[in-house]
Amino acid sequence: MPESNLLTCLPRLLATLMLCGVVIAVQADDATGDNAGLRRAQMLSFNCFTCHGPEGQGSGEIPALAGRAADELKARLQAYKRGTKQGTIMNRIARGYSDAEIDIIADYFAELERE
Ligand code: HEC
Repeated sequence: MPESNLLTCLPRLLATLMLCGVVIAVQADDATGDNAGLRRAQMLSFNCFTCHGPEGQGSGEIPALAGRAADELKARLQAYKRGTKQGTIMNRIARGYSDAEIDIIADYFAELERE
């Protein structure tokens, strides 16, 4: 991926992280009940939208995540996390999530429809 894509991504990443803080603050109160699992998945996956497009639909050269097989997404994220696959940025990102969180994120994106 060209360096310029990464640079244009960073301000959006920061904006997303700030927005994420607001979302977490707003949702912390009612993160119980049936929707708690879905909310957790959304919060964990929100960061990914910055680069992989809204709802993981893909953005420029960055691949779409929506509607992909959960097992494939898990395997790729684990490979980035463990360093058996090298990317420009995904290694650092994947290391920030536990194995259980990777499973939640992969299942979430697999459930989203590819437009
Ligand atoms: C800062 C931008 C950025 C963010 C944030 C980001 N990604 Fe990525 N992602 C990339 C890029 C760029 C690649 C291509 C591999 C590389 O260069 O690291 C990629 C590749 C991937 C791939 C491999 C896709 C394929 O077809 O091989 C998966 C899976 C993935 N990302 C999942 C995620 C998930 C899940 C999140 C959120 C936890 C996330 N990414 C957050 C930029 C990002």
